Amino acid sequence: MHKPRSIPKGAFLLPLTLLVIVLLLPLFRNFIQSSSKIYATNLETKETRSCNIFSGNWSSYPKEPYYNNETCPFILNQINCIKSGRPDRDFLKLRWKPHDCELPLFNATQFLELVRGKSMAFVGDSMGRNQLESLLCLINTVAHPEDITAKYTSNDDIFFRWWFIADYNFTVTIMWSPFLVKYNDSDASGLAYYSATTLYLDEVDAAWASKIENFDYVIFSAGQWFFRPLTFYENGQVVGCQKCQNKTELNYYGYRKAFRTAFRTIRNVKGFKGKAFLVTHSPGHFENGDWNEGGTCNRTRPFSMEERKVYKHRDIVEAVYQIQMEEFAEAEKEARKEGLNFGLSLIDITDAMVMRPDGHPGRYRSVGNVKINDCVHWCLPGPVDTWNEILLYVMRLEGEKHKNVTLS
Ligand SMILES: *[C@@H]1O[C@H](CO)[C@@H](O)[C@H](O)[C@H]1NC(C)=O
Ligand SMILES: *[C@@H]1O[C@H](CO)[C@@H](O)[C@H](O)[C@H]1NC(C)=O
Ligand SMILES: *[C@@H]1O[C@H](CO)[C@@H](O)[C@H](O)[C@H]1NC(C)=O
Ligand SMILES: *[C@@H]1O[C@H](CO)[C@@H](O)[C@H](O)[C@H]1NC(C)=O
Ligand SMILES: *[C@@H]1O[C@H](CO)[C@@H](O)[C@H](O)[C@H]1NC(C)=O
Ligand SMILES: *[C@@H]1O[C@H](CO)[C@@H](O)[C@H](O)[C@H]1NC(C)=O
Ligand SMILES: *[C@@H]1O[C@H](CO)[C@@H](O)[C@H](O)[C@H]1NC(C)=O
Repeated sequence: MHKPRSIPKGAFLLPLTLLVIVLLLPLFRNFIQSSSKIYATNLETKETRSCNIFSGNWSSYPKEPYYNNETCPFILNQINCIKSGRPDRDFLKLRWKPHDCELPLFNATQFLELVRGKSMAFVGDSMGRNQLESLLCLINTVAHPEDITAKYTSNDDIFFRWWFIADYNFTVTIMWSPFLVKYNDSDASGLAYYSATTLYLDEVDAAWASKIENFDYVIFSAGQWFFRPLTFYENGQVVGCQKCQNKTELNYYGYRKAFRTAFRTIRNVKGFKGKAFLVTHSPGHFENGDWNEGGTCNRTRPFSMEERKVYKHRDIVEAVYQIQMEEFAEAEKEARKEGLNFGLSLIDITDAMVMRPDGHPGRYRSVGNVKINDCVHWCLPGPVDTWNEILLYVMRLEGEKHKNVTLS
């Protein structure tokens, strides 16, 4: 099994692979429809029926962001865009506005009161880390997150880390698991952006699954690594591959099965009484070439409706999003059949983020190969802060559901 700690930081920064993909996609009507349907059946309050917070638009908001490069010490250089010299600021003056309601601002005190005495794990790839850093910055406005990684491991890397917010007895951690299932990188150093990888689709990655049972909240964000050459195993047999033997096309079988295995695992982990969240696919926005072809993302405004329509590669984003939705719905159905508390909710950011080609670091990333733009991760502060506004909103909604009251 390839050891995550052998991956250099640069590889984490740009899980490129994906890059391959993802670009710029228009908004798909069916995205909205499928997610609102799932959302409404998942959450049974009056409020959610009348408002799908995942369907909306970015509207202007003149106030300063929650934090900045001087007030938040948790931002990795690669996404610390303003500090790295990004000159424009308009991308910070927007907030997500659901069509039928308001998404409340992130209230860090309220968040910390909800999670008092609890623990939260971000499981997956560097998109999870992107959201975690945003959360640490948001928390840092009212309480101090202390890095307690040394209590758990002597590895000083960014793949497995722990923070503790003493005033609220709250622990938050990140667990690196880019495929969610067991994998083995043929390049032992893990250096290659594009190395062939073997996935064991029916075996969950113990890096998270063995640790998860005591957590109260688990947040999955993965999928960006599924665009490289892959060989799929099930039951000890090769069952397929991608970008192999002269084939260039994507084979979504592995993506689907990996999510199926992860969802089955979280449903069945003995003793897991917590809440899990799936953060849906985060789209990238390379233009004029891929990540390795000098592609850029230098827009300073969200897409207009017209611009959204002309973007390419929508089929890939649509395909992976649809697979996530289908597997989510399938897992929910299975849980119901087995009489289990499903415990998995959506943080459906795909549609909102498709509209934000202006939210990426691009060339303002101060690390690694400066010739490669990062049009995959998101600047902090920036539109990724919305993911945590949504997280808090959904956590409150879940809490209120149990008390049978509606949100104000
Ligand atoms: C991982 O792959 C390498 C190279 O292909 C191989 O030598 C090694 O035995 C594999 N490890 C596991 C645990 O399958
Ligand atoms: C979304 O907002 C932008 C400006 O922020 C506006 O130009 C556009 O018309 C809006 N689209 C919809 C569907 O409301
Ligand atoms: C952040 O960093 C940049 C450059 O390093 C600096 O010019 C800017 O004023 C800083 N502060 C804020 C609040 O953005
Ligand atoms: C934030 O939440 C706390 C605790 O629930 C509450 O006392 C405070 O008024 C809230 N702040 C704002 C600005 O809503
Ligand atoms: C802190 O939270 C943990 C659970 O995460 C609990 O076991 C422990 O008793 C709490 N400590 C205090 C001092 O409340
Ligand atoms: C891949 O393509 C090359 C050249 O077209 C051919 O020689 C080779 O046999 C092919 N390999 C496989 C496994 O199909
Ligand atoms: C943005 O990038 C394109 C190439 O992708 C380039 O032609 C254009 O000049 C760039 N614009 C700015 C303002 O840098």
